[in-house]
Amino acid sequence: MKKRVLGVLLTALMSMSLLIGCGPADTGNPPDDGDGAATTGSSNAGGGKKVAVAMPTQSSERWINDGSNMKEKLEKLGYEVDLQYAEDDVQAQVSQIENMIASGADCLVIAAIDSSALVNVEQQAKEQGIPIIAYDRLLMDTDAVSYYATFDNKGVGTAIGKYIEESKDLKKASEAGESYTIEFFMGSPDDNNAVMLYDGLMEVLKPYLDDGTLVCKSGRTSFEETCILRWSQETAQQNCENYLTGFYAKDKLDICATAFDGFAYGCKAALEGAGYKVGKDWPLITGQDAELMATKNIIAGSQTMSVYKDTRLLADKCVTMVQAVLEGSEPEINDKEQYNNGKITVPSYLCTPVAVDKDNYKEIIVDGGYYTEEQLKAD
Ligand code: BGC
Repeated sequence: MKKRVLGVLLTALMSMSLLIGCGPADTGNPPDDGDGAATTGSSNAGGGKKVAVAMPTQSSERWINDGSNMKEKLEKLGYEVDLQYAEDDVQAQVSQIENMIASGADCLVIAAIDSSALVNVEQQAKEQGIPIIAYDRLLMDTDAVSYYATFDNKGVGTAIGKYIEESKDLKKASEAGESYTIEFFMGSPDDNNAVMLYDGLMEVLKPYLDDGTLVCKSGRTSFEETCILRWSQETAQQNCENYLTGFYAKDKLDICATAFDGFAYGCKAALEGAGYKVGKDWPLITGQDAELMATKNIIAGSQTMSVYKDTRLLADKCVTMVQAVLEGSEPEINDKEQYNNGKITVPSYLCTPVAVDKDNYKEIIVDGGYYTEEQLKAD
């Protein structure tokens, strides 16, 4: 993408953040001291209270970072932390949360695997007066959740859509009657974030699908047809292989619109298998999370962009929510409308996602202290 495109995108994101009340610190820069707004109290402000953090999986780098950021920040504040990963096994997460309640957690922070599968265990926590904070993924169908810390999930989708629109100059292509082929790889149907991302993406791309500027040869454009259970990289690779064999024997695939860096890796493997070459006929591939490997692939040209989500910032916002429910302080909230879970509208803090590519990764990711140049160079 050209600098101009990123400039437009960043400006749009910044004005969006102003509208929803996010400060400039949310545009991708790290919190000033790594502890953020939550660190107003003494290092023992937590007074030994126990915070249990239930994370979905260690199979993707972002959740490992989320877990360790949360643990570090909470421990610094004097909380005892019980951090557990359920490796994408829904029942295992239910059992972990049951155990957390039984072993005396004062507060639960949950990033769900299946956002609707925890209703009973959430009810148990509520009955025992244990507050719950939803982390990154909304907890559905429950009134037991107090706050929600996340990124602007629809904003992730529009960022991906606008990136595709601008880097392929779809407006001009539409006027000239030109077209690009595209296939979609969307997130897990049990994750509310995945649906919101799809909505944001289609808000930008649907007109181009409707007027034939974007051509999806598999015909799979709905969320139901393109969602991938549990965000599985293997399924994304398999789908991409099937699309390439079934629909792209003659015409090339120009765009892989994927919702996750793991899917971008799956598409990369499928494309390599089908003989596509970086720098020749390699498609535009999108992603989400700006994982270390994805950022390296962006530098190498085998992934085009990703959506950077500063998990340090998310952890800071979540910690203010933990403090609010345990110490009676006021958490930072900037959205009271968008996140209805079927039972209640959960007061939320939305951090701002930022599109990154070859042109701005240094400024956003390296200067922002997320990865060092050395990490990005290492094999
Ligand atoms: C998160 C994304 C992540 C995906 C797969 C979503 O709920 O918001 O950042 O890429 O899960 O782990």
